[in-house]
Amino acid sequence: MALVTGGAGGIGSATAERLLRDGACVMLADIDGAAAQEVATGMARVYGADVVRAVAMNVTDEGQVAAAYAAVAVEFGGVDILVSNAGIASSAPIEETTLALWNRNMDILSTGYFLVSRAAFRMLRAQGIGGSVIFVASKNGLAASPNAAAYCTAKAAEIHLARCLALEGAEAGIRVNVVNPDAVLRGSKIWSGEWLDQRASTYKTDKDGLEEMYRQRSMLKRSVLPEDIAEGVYFFASDLTAKSTGNILNVDAGNKEAFTR
Ligand SMILES: NC(=O)c1ccc[n+]([C@@H]2O[C@H](COP(=O)([O-])OP(=O)(O)OC[C@H]3O[C@@H](n4cnc5c(N)ncnc54)[C@H](O)[C@@H]3O)[C@@H](O)[C@H]2O)c1
Repeated sequence: MALVTGGAGGIGSATAERLLRDGACVMLADIDGAAAQEVATGMARVYGADVVRAVAMNVTDEGQVAAAYAAVAVEFGGVDILVSNAGIASSAPIEETTLALWNRNMDILSTGYFLVSRAAFRMLRAQGIGGSVIFVASKNGLAASPNAAAYCTAKAAEIHLARCLALEGAEAGIRVNVVNPDAVLRGSKIWSGEWLDQRASTYKTDKDGLEEMYRQRSMLKRSVLPEDIAEGVYFFASDLTAKSTGNILNVDAGNKEAFTR
């Protein structure tokens, strides 16, 4: 049983699909409840009506987070996989980063990841059968990126939160690992809004130019797709990594600034 936050988005829905293909039951949780329901309805046609559900949940709202876990308990009897993925992106030079923009990044990314993982820990400990928590963070949580201090800092907080939780969860068999995407333009709603315009202006190009720029910038010279991130998440969700916790997997086609040490 998996709860996927941001399940209506590009990476969230690809991840949900990957888990469903492996036989998991999946609850899609998203601030856009209607979009999550639409994605769930499409997946139910392929994988069956019993294995996928959707719930409206704002990750910054404690009450809504609690309600989503109550829903997953009712629908599937509990949860053993949390994919904390709901997110945004923002770009601004530091002098133009308003307190509101800074707080929005902190609220949705670091605090949102805290709230959904704290609720997961409570449920996982009560169940007593361990579990796997996967954070979809960002290459930008390891590597500084121009004009994105609020986003990069909030993503770095997610990565360190995951390490702390890996330490706390180990004795209960709760594994916590991180997947870091970079520049997943196709399928991502982040790349259809302001972030696209701001990144395009930072790098003085357009969407096609950006995708090519990121491809050429990568060591492997390849574009990263939502399905690639989903495979990384699946790896940590599955028993393939039963003996791994506190790890980071970069799915970024190679970026030496993000090498872990
Ligand atoms: N696409 C990329 O290039 C990229 C790169 C690095 C990291 N990431 C991270 O991957 C994750 C998924 O991004 P994506 O590319 O699929 O973007 P996306 O916009 O397609 O999906 C994000 C989803 O999160 C939901 N969401 C936003 N705020 C929320 C909130 N407060 N509560 C609940 N749901 C909320 C949105 O409604 C959306 O469905 C994010 O955490 C993002 O920061 C993405």
